[in-house]
Amino acid sequence: MADKIKILAISGSTRSSSSNLNLINAITKLAADQFEVSVFDGLTGLPHFNPDIDHEVVAEPVASFRKQIRAADGVLICTPEYAIGVPGTLKNAIDWTVSSMEFSRKPVALITAALSGVKAHESLLGTLLIIESNMTSETQLVISGVKTKVSGDGEITDVHTLESVKKLIASMTAMVNGNAPVELLVAPVLY
Ligand SMILES: Cc1cc2nc3c(=O)[nH]c(=O)nc-3n(C[C@H](O)[C@H](O)[C@H](O)COP(=O)(O)O)c2cc1C
Repeated sequence: MADKIKILAISGSTRSSSSNLNLINAITKLAADQFEVSVFDGLTGLPHFNPDIDHEVVAEPVASFRKQIRAADGVLICTPEYAIGVPGTLKNAIDWTVSSMEFSRKPVALITAALSGVKAHESLLGTLLIIESNMTSETQLVISGVKTKVSGDGEITDVHTLESVKKLIASMTAMVNGNAPVELLVAPVLY
């Protein structure tokens, strides 16, 4: 059997009983035959992004984060929405990759799982595409009302959500393997 696809999963919530972490666990189980998932646990250890300290040699947590993205075949981001936006800790982490371009041509799946999530999703999708992530319409998904759709023990209990997540896994797999025609999303014209 071919090697499994190495996925670096990032939860935009650092809450101990996070629904987004439950979702990552659910995807890890659903895609156990295709994905080898490692969960990034260093979000809160990253310094606040500042271009003045974004030099050739960066702080160790930043270097480690960048290395983990580079080593992955794809990145899965599951995040809540806070105050109609992207959680600051997650945006901070992504800002650390802009100059070093780890997301450029990297297959990425984005799920925004929140009460609503639409605004954060739109914003983060724009960010990921402008930093040249490879994404398809099926590797991005909003799960509104996530707490009624994903259980604490990592099961997706809503049938429509389960279908969409299965499509996301299949599209991510096809994109990483390059063995299926996938139409990539294009970055919005922002300025
Ligand atoms: C400070 C704060 C602000 C929030 N703002 C929004 C919001 O604007 N839109 C939304 O859909 N959900 C919002 N929520 C709800 C969270 O997105 C929701 O509880 C989500 O499930 C949290 O993710 P987690 O379970 O992975 O921690 C907010 C929650 C908090 C704590």
